[in-house]
Amino acid sequence: MPGYGLAVAQGQYALQEAAELLRKAGVGVSYAIHPVAGRMPGHMNVLLAEANVPYDMLKDLDEINDEFQNTDVVLVVGANDVINPAAREKGNPLSGMPILDVDKARSIIIIKRSLSPGFAGVDNELFYDSKTMMIFGDAKEMLVKISSALKEEI
Ligand code: TAP
Repeated sequence: MPGYGLAVAQGQYALQEAAELLRKAGVGVSYAIHPVAGRMPGHMNVLLAEANVPYDMLKDLDEINDEFQNTDVVLVVGANDVINPAAREKGNPLSGMPILDVDKARSIIIIKRSLSPGFAGVDNELFYDSKTMMIFGDAKEMLVKISSALKEEI
């Protein structure tokens, strides 16, 4: 699940490499695309197209939200507002915005540099969920490490 931080880090090539390693090992991989992830319309589509991610691996919010409940692991890379469950509550700047329901998956891994909020300035309780693992660091650097680890393991 790519967000603005993936674009900042220019981590799209490392992400695509990790996804390909998993796919070759028989893991089903999809990219969950939120319509306002990033900072411009189509930002994630453009970013992932640069790294030659096959178009059929991209799933938009309506297509993928029902799949999270049957998903083993969601890897969130540099995203925050578009996965923030606070959007389901009233009285904050994100209220009413549809989100990617990554909190329905069995495990969530989130790569970002800190616990700081995203564009809307709203804290994200998902970072503290017992099924969430935070990986603190630059998205590209962390994805390169994940790819290296996958190459050794697979
Ligand atoms: P955000 O909510 O802005 O979250 C992005 C996260 O990326 C940040 O919390 C930041 O956390 C992390 N990050 C930044 N640089 C990073 C790096 N080098 N490595 C790893 N992580 C990094 O982004 P989002 O989830 O994509 O949501 C988009 C937001 O922008 C929405 O609120 C949307 O409404 C708004 N917006 C969108 C558009 C369009 S059209 N797409 C236009 C204007 C505004 P750390 O600092 O902890 O790393």
